[in-house]
Amino acid sequence: MSRLRVFTAEKPQSPLLTTTESDVIVRALAAHGAEFERVSSVLDLSPNASAEDVLRAYEPFITGQKAARGYKTADVVRIARGQTGTESMRAKFLSEHTHSEDESRLFAEGSGAFFLHLSGQVFELICEKGDYLRVPAGTKHWFDMGSKPFFTAVRLFTDPSGWVAQFTGNNIASRFPKFE
Ligand SMILES: [Fe+2]
Repeated sequence: MSRLRVFTAEKPQSPLLTTTESDVIVRALAAHGAEFERVSSVLDLSPNASAEDVLRAYEPFITGQKAARGYKTADVVRIARGQTGTESMRAKFLSEHTHSEDESRLFAEGSGAFFLHLSGQVFELICEKGDYLRVPAGTKHWFDMGSKPFFTAVRLFTDPSGWVAQFTGNNIASRFPKFE
């Protein structure tokens, strides 16, 4: 079950809020311009499903987001259970950064943890199968896929070439719990 915990940026030990309730997560994030949705049309993916299969399975959702947000392209990132060599992939987005465009993700299977640094608070959101999260452009955040990563996510882009991490230099991520 996806879960939101909210911390003050200085106190990673004691969450102010812990919830798995969709409505509460939606409202807490919407107050800061981020968007969360549990997508109703969740499908079981075959281990052999191609990126095209995943995109086809979620085509109505993708089309809706493109229309609503002006996204131009969608792709799929998939890390299989037990895949090796993922340490560098995990490390890449484990420090606080921003992007000049939205980080817009639909989890088709598996899980990962997003940490959004908003107005002096840190929102830790564990996303699982069927969860959609839109982190608005310019939001300070980091992402932890965990020590045994496993997920398939649809990514939506206005311009994929613009989706580059700009690191803030703040070591805040190192003070927060890792996703294990
Ligand atoms: Fe990011």
